[in-house]
Order: sequence, then C-alpha cells, then structure tokens
Amino acid sequence: MANLFNTQWFVLIVLVLVKLTESVDEPEIDCKDLLMGQYLCDDPKIDPETQQARNCSQETRTVQVACRPAPKIVCSGQTHNGTTIGFYKNVPCKWVNGASFETALLLSVFLGMFGIDRFYLGYPAIGLVKFGTLGFMFLGQLVDILLIATQMLGPADGSNYLIDYFGAVLSRVVVDNTTYIKPQQYDGY
Ligand SMILES: *[C@@H]1O[C@H](CO)[C@@H](O)[C@H](O)[C@H]1NC(C)=O
Ligand SMILES: *[C@@H]1O[C@H](CO)[C@@H](O)[C@H](O)[C@H]1NC(C)=O
Ligand SMILES: *[C@@H]1O[C@H](CO)[C@@H](O)[C@H](O)[C@H]1NC(C)=O
Repeated sequence: MANLFNTQWFVLIVLVLVKLTESVDEPEIDCKDLLMGQYLCDDPKIDPETQQARNCSQETRTVQVACRPAPKIVCSGQTHNGTTIGFYKNVPCKWVNGASFETALLLSVFLGMFGIDRFYLGYPAIGLVKFGTLGFMFLGQLVDILLIATQMLGPADGSNYLIDYFGAVLSRVVVDNTTYIKPQQYDGY
C-alpha cells in the first residue's frame, strides 16, 4: 500500500515538473508591446536655459526617451532588472526658438503702438502697418495684447514661447480620434 502511495506521488511530481517546464517556454514578447505598468520611461532631459526638453524635434515636436521594463520582465530576448533599457519612445515636447512670452507681452503693452511686438515675433509686414498707423489707432494694439496674453498668437516660425517648464503655459484642448469619449448613461430619464 505504501509503495502504491509513493508511486502516485512520483507521478504527480513528474506531472507538475512537466507543467512547469512548459510554462517557462513562453512566446517571445517585443519590448515595445509591453503593457502600461510593465515599464517606466525616463523623463525628458530639461535644458535649464530654455526650461524645455533637450533635442526636441522641430518637425515632430517629440523627443526620444528610454523606457525600462520592470525587474524580471523578459522581452526581446533579455531579462530586465529595472535599470536596463528595453526600448525608446517618442514623447511630446515643446520646440522653442528663443522668443520669450514675457518679452512679447511687455513689448505689446508698451511698444505695441509701434508694432515692435509684431517685429519681435517675426511678422514684419503687420509690424510696419502698426508702426505707420499707431497700431491701427491703438485698437490693433489692444487686439494684439489680448492675442499674445491668451497665447493665441505665437512666434511666426511656429515655435513655442519660452515659458518655465511648469509655468503658465496655455494649451488648446482638441477632440480627435484618440480622445476617449465617456459613454453616456440615459437610464432614469
Ligand atoms: C542631443 O543630441 C546630441 C547630438 O545628436 C546628443 O549628443 C545628446 O546626447 C542629445 N541629448 C539628449 C538629452 O538626448
Ligand atoms: C542590471 O543589469 C545591468 C546589465 O545587465 C547591470 O549593469 C546593472 O548593474 C543591473 N542593475 C541591477 C540593479 O541589478
Ligand atoms: C480620424 O478618423 C477619420 C476617419 O476614420 C480619418 O479620416 C482621419 O484622418 C482621422 N484623424 C486623425 C487625426 O487621425
């Protein structure tokens, strides 16, 4: 009886071992396909001069950061330990080209009637018109102050204003295909 019992245990242990070796043989995962929470990406390196990310691309307005899979995650044929780089990701950033928000606003308030703010931002034609007409008799100056203060009017080259990284940056919120639209509940009406 004891012998039979031992045989059963032996079979059970062999089965468990076979099962374990099977589960080790998982399909290979590309590090880029990891799910959120299985990796951490570095923050972009901030340039102290501009207060924006270093190497921000003018064309794509993104910067590349390294992403590090969590410890013991196996992907792309490597076991990661939390510090090794699994893949690189492009994250949005602000491309700046030297035009400062504070300077533009101050120029607009104090010298806007001569169009200096428009020259500073790179719109010489409108600047000349403002210069010749005393800023459309101050009405155009007022409009420009509002446009600059609300950050609707930016530098002509499409760059972003120099503003502190955690400063008073206004960004327009748009709805596009990637916007999550919360399903509406209509029961009870
Ligand atoms: C920015 O780009 C330069 C040259 O391409 C490179 O040497 C430098 O390491 C990059 N800096 C960052 C923070 O990626
Ligand atoms: C992670 O692995 C890398 C290279 O394999 C090694 O240089 C580093 O010291 C390891 N870090 C830890 C926290 O084990
Ligand atoms: C949104 O989807 C429409 C049709 O599905 C497509 O024509 C359009 O280019 C998409 N827009 C963006 C920003 O992906």
